[in-house]
Amino acid sequence: MISSNEQRIKKHLETLAQFTSTPTMGVTRLSYSPEDILARTYLKQQMKELGLSVREDAIGNIYGRLDGVDNTLPPVVIGSHFDSVPNGGAFDGTAGVVMGLEVAALFQEQKLKPHCPLEIIALIEEEGSSFGSGLLASRAIAGLVSTADLESMHDSNGVSAAEKMALVGFDASKVESIVRKPGDMKAFIELHIEQGPILEQAAEDIGIVDTIVGLSQLSVTITGKAGHAGTTPMDMRSDALLISSQLIGQIAQFATEEGETVATVGKLNVFPNGSNVIPSKVVFSIDVRSKFIDKLSRVVTRIENTINAVNGGNYTAEVERLIYIKPVDLDKAVFSTLNDCSQQLGYKTRTMVSGAGHDAMIFAQICPVGLVFVPSRDGLSHHPDEWTDYDQVAKGIDVVFAAVKKLTGIA
Ligand code: HGY
Ligand code: MN
Ligand code: MN
Repeated sequence: MISSNEQRIKKHLETLAQFTSTPTMGVTRLSYSPEDILARTYLKQQMKELGLSVREDAIGNIYGRLDGVDNTLPPVVIGSHFDSVPNGGAFDGTAGVVMGLEVAALFQEQKLKPHCPLEIIALIEEEGSSFGSGLLASRAIAGLVSTADLESMHDSNGVSAAEKMALVGFDASKVESIVRKPGDMKAFIELHIEQGPILEQAAEDIGIVDTIVGLSQLSVTITGKAGHAGTTPMDMRSDALLISSQLIGQIAQFATEEGETVATVGKLNVFPNGSNVIPSKVVFSIDVRSKFIDKLSRVVTRIENTINAVNGGNYTAEVERLIYIKPVDLDKAVFSTLNDCSQQLGYKTRTMVSGAGHDAMIFAQICPVGLVFVPSRDGLSHHPDEWTDYDQVAKGIDVVFAAVKKLTGIA
């Protein structure tokens, strides 16, 4: 029997899905956007109604805290991110934030008082859609992001993260105040949609993640020379887009040849972007992932060498590593707690590798971490049709609720 309340879960997910800049075309909720502010206001209100003490940190992460018997102890922290990719779905990240609200509601309903504090958290900028630098909140909390970093990363309009934060009342100069060191958090538990087809195809309810693949995100700038599309002979061109398209084909080939590795070019900007102008500059992203660090490293190095070889003659090429995170094995004790809870609840449970990156992989640097997956219909994600049935979300929340009672010293 599911103990989480599907109606509450449905209400939260459907309300939050309305906070999008692309209604009828999926959820687009970039950090510090008007949609972020609407979602943030709703989340803080819900946390207050649950009797939690609510605060926002210097860069806009939201915390709802339930004090414990002994508040000198580090909290168990649960949640996920509430930003999205462009035209994404209503469950990616948001399902994990709603999990936090629902676990807090169950604690309130059942009058449970944890021994150590319980914190639910809603994280900004996991996707990197605003500034091209993902997992930003968890990296900042882990002490891996400086004020200078926030001043140097920009959105597509050239506005820095620091400026964007200041516009809505946050302060990048105080980013160090949000840092949590090893020992400051007892554990971090995230619930997330699988974003792949495995659970659905196996007709299983719950995935407990043991490893998150390593990921590297690169930014590439190829510079050639603008010219007239009609009058410039083909042998006199320095066409940045032509070179870039040849490189992009090679990038996909490198990943395929390596095996058990994926590489994606998801963003590409052409300058000056005129149909009758030879492109002078192209800036594109590269996202490389593998469960095996040696494979990830080989493909990234091969990509960098190939791009750097473009330098000279009529072109310049720059490649910048924005993120490079090794594969992460999640805490075995937390894994067992989640796995046992799921089995005891009678849910069909599978051990899984996460092909997607998650804030959990960063928090694993400062505390024990657990990650629970619920099924994705057709394995679809980062798409407006992303869907998970509410009772499937509720089963995942049941598992987290049972584990959190153990981790906070109740059960
Ligand atoms: O890219 C990812 O894996 C995640 O959706 N941020
Ligand atoms: Mn995502
Ligand atoms: Mn996500």
